[in-house]
Amino acid sequence: MEDSIEMVLQEHSGSNTTRHHPVLSACTGALFTGLYGVWSLFVMPGFRKVPLKLKVPYLPSSKDQTLNTMKLLEGRTGRLVDLGSGDGRLVFAASSAGFKCTGFEINSILLVYARSKASWTGVPSSQATFVNKDFWTTDLSSYNNVIAFLAPGVMGLLAEKLLKELPDDARVIACRFPFPDWPLQSSAGSGLDKTFAYDIGSVRSLLRKRPNPVD
Ligand SMILES: C[S@@+](CC[C@H](N)C(=O)[O-])C[C@H]1O[C@@H](n2cnc3c(N)ncnc32)[C@H](O)[C@@H]1O
Repeated sequence: MEDSIEMVLQEHSGSNTTRHHPVLSACTGALFTGLYGVWSLFVMPGFRKVPLKLKVPYLPSSKDQTLNTMKLLEGRTGRLVDLGSGDGRLVFAASSAGFKCTGFEINSILLVYARSKASWTGVPSSQATFVNKDFWTTDLSSYNNVIAFLAPGVMGLLAEKLLKELPDDARVIACRFPFPDWPLQSSAGSGLDKTFAYDIGSVRSLLRKRPNPVD
């Protein structure tokens, strides 16, 4: 009899645990799925269009990084492109410095945000345009100022594309991740907010002078 009471008690406490755990697990699961959903909504849209090795997630420029970028563009004018413009913060900073700006962005949510911000802050489309386009498949030859805050793994490929397409008078600003083989013109800031400036004419002539490794 004692045994059977203990068994009943054990069964009772066991069933209590199983009654609580599925609810807890379901809530935790739902919470994580929700968080992942929100995260992927902002970071992932448009990614299907880009090959795996070229995928770069969204990470906004800090205030210092934006200031460092603008410092390296001082004295320059003309057309500017931000390769992956995110919420548009670099484009807005550059357009208020007088550049005629384009931001290419594949994340449609960020694109809607940047376009709305342009409209509610009264920035005309002649000064700042946000285009839903993959910059890897876009001709960049009409830009004489380029900003790239991307990822270390894509900088080599980007260097090849920019060398093929940009005019000699173009300046390229790389945020946080420098180009692996390009001679640096100047830099601003330090640590994660450091930005790097390259003048395409100088890059081309210095690369031409470098001995070819197969010779
Ligand atoms: C590191 S974030 C930089 C965002 C913004 N430039 C800034 O500094 O705040 C890189 C951005 O590039 C976008 N992106 C990545 N690959 C792209 C591509 N092939 N074409 C257009 N945008 C791209 C991402 O969606 C993301 O918003």
